[in-house]
Amino acid sequence: MAFEKFDAFISYTRQDGAPIAQRVLELLKEEGFKVWQDCTQMRGGQEFWRQIEAAIERTHTLIMVLTPDAFEGERRVLRDEWLTARRRGCRVLPVHEAETIDFDSSKLPAWLRKLDCYNLDDPNDRAKLLNDLRTTPELRKIPHTVEFPAYFVPRDKEMRAIRDALTITEGGVRIALTTALLGAGGFGKTTLAKAVCFDDDALARYTDGVLWLTVGEGTRTVPELLTALLEQLGVAPKSADADALFGEWKEALRTRQCLVVLDDVWKESDARALVVHETASAFLITTRIPRVATAVEARDCRVDEMTLTQAVSVLAAALRGFADRTRLEALANRVGHWPVLLGLIANQLRHSLKRPGATPSRAIDQVEEDLRDLSLTAFDRRDSQRRDAAVATTMEASLRYLSAGRPEAITRYRELAVFPNNVPIPLAVLESLWNVQSAEARRLAEKFDDVGLANLDYSRGLILHDVFREYLRKGWESAQLSELHSRLLAAWPNIHKLPYHYAWRWFGYHCVEAGRDDDLLAALLDFGWLTPRLAETDLASLLADCRRLREDAVPQQRAIALLRDVLEKSAHVLLVEPEQLAAQLLGVCDSASVASSTH
Ligand SMILES: Nc1ncnc2c1ncn2[C@@H]1O[C@H](COP(=O)(O)OP(=O)(O)OP(=O)(O)O)[C@@H](O)[C@H]1O
Ligand SMILES: [Mg+2]
Repeated sequence: MAFEKFDAFISYTRQDGAPIAQRVLELLKEEGFKVWQDCTQMRGGQEFWRQIEAAIERTHTLIMVLTPDAFEGERRVLRDEWLTARRRGCRVLPVHEAETIDFDSSKLPAWLRKLDCYNLDDPNDRAKLLNDLRTTPELRKIPHTVEFPAYFVPRDKEMRAIRDALTITEGGVRIALTTALLGAGGFGKTTLAKAVCFDDDALARYTDGVLWLTVGEGTRTVPELLTALLEQLGVAPKSADADALFGEWKEALRTRQCLVVLDDVWKESDARALVVHETASAFLITTRIPRVATAVEARDCRVDEMTLTQAVSVLAAALRGFADRTRLEALANRVGHWPVLLGLIANQLRHSLKRPGATPSRAIDQVEEDLRDLSLTAFDRRDSQRRDAAVATTMEASLRYLSAGRPEAITRYRELAVFPNNVPIPLAVLESLWNVQSAEARRLAEKFDDVGLANLDYSRGLILHDVFREYLRKGWESAQLSELHSRLLAAWPNIHKLPYHYAWRWFGYHCVEAGRDDDLLAALLDFGWLTPRLAETDLASLLADCRRLREDAVPQQRAIALLRDVLEKSAHVLLVEPEQLAAQLLGVCDSASVASSTH
């Protein structure tokens, strides 16, 4: 039964935990509780983890069987079960048998140490457990929307440095610092930051959850960024002004202990506008730019190329543990242990292995052949020109996989240069850009994902790495790029009835990039557009459109300044009731001046 609810989910290790889990199961069943436990419930054929996730979604309580082996080694599934339960806000009830575990062990995460444990060998504890299960707890969700990075290869030195910075104590007092992961594009900063979000010690310290914000090159304004952070905490913003929002942000953090990751920060001003000092929450920034780190007095953690062993692990994982180290080392050396290129090559290998008759050794032959054709040999990663050439070569090799039987796929891929950085591209938008049916857009996006040139998330869309986007942008003249933006705009002929959220949100961006500031100006001064624009998106992003217009390109600057002023001043109303826009515009501003400026 798909929607059956469970009174409890039992989480345990397959080794030492299994007999105790069985004991709990029997105890609870006798009392008539419905329990989910994988060995009894797992049906063949369905994907293992999805079933676990779905089961946790259907319960309020996770019973955690404590055995020493649960805290040894990687234990990814177990950790993910606990985190999924905590994200959902489940109550966690740890159980153990007498003498099976040392509860003072420093291996136990701190959040777990705070919980009462039930000793199954003690009749009072057993009765208490059953009693507690009869009450339905309030779900206490912690924010945490980060996914663990796929095919992750641990980087111990960097992880240790980040963990130390995040869990530092001075004179017995915990302090939260701002830490910056600093390194060139594609060196693995974002990937490491994601892995840190799953680190037990970090999660133990930052018990109010993990907030993740992709800041980017300036595609979003400070008020938009602060609004997004507050929303993750479930706090409704009361203002649209950067200073006031910062006050709200600071206040929200005052009573919380969160880990806040600001990913891909380019501007010092963004870092300064988002980082709160002297709070129990810690900030982790990823950036390519040292000045961004100094602007907020962050402690630096350098992220460089991978070690040879790590680089080889990235490739070996793609070849199901293929062990010819000499060959893997040679391949890793050709791309200078640069993670983003190793990732791309690993995908080429995975792709080759899917072919009938393929073997790991043949897959390496093919990839080497492609790279040889394109003359990539070991290069000096400090030389940016050589780095660009290495990106070009490796990407062109991947593009060849796209072209097999479908030459137009390469053109389609190159057209992705039109999108703002770090913004997932929904499949419907790709349909518009390419003027194809939905099935075709999906197939192409799947193909890009297959060869590692982008990541496809069916609910969010296609996600393009910035290193790839930069490469694509360099392949177009600026006039050609403007034309591409115009082509996308042409797919949205009726600006009052834009087809999806992305179009409302990014119409202004594409107008300005297409050199059509006038179209955005006309829209902003059109009541019939402003109303749905606000309803479909939010005030902060509408204000961002007002700021987007280039001053020299817009004669009606006064009207725009006035509009901005009204929107900012009425933020307290519009944030709660966006449908009040008309009344606010008419009431607050001097209607005569708007009328004169718009005609
Ligand atoms: N630890 C890792 N294990 C396996 N693959 C990795 C690892 N780190 C990075 N990669 C590969 O490198 C790619 C780029 O990494 P990532 O996005 O973390 O780089 P970045 O430093 O954040 O780049 P940018 O400066 O452009 O934001 C990943 O998509 C992945 O393929
Ligand atoms: Mg990054």
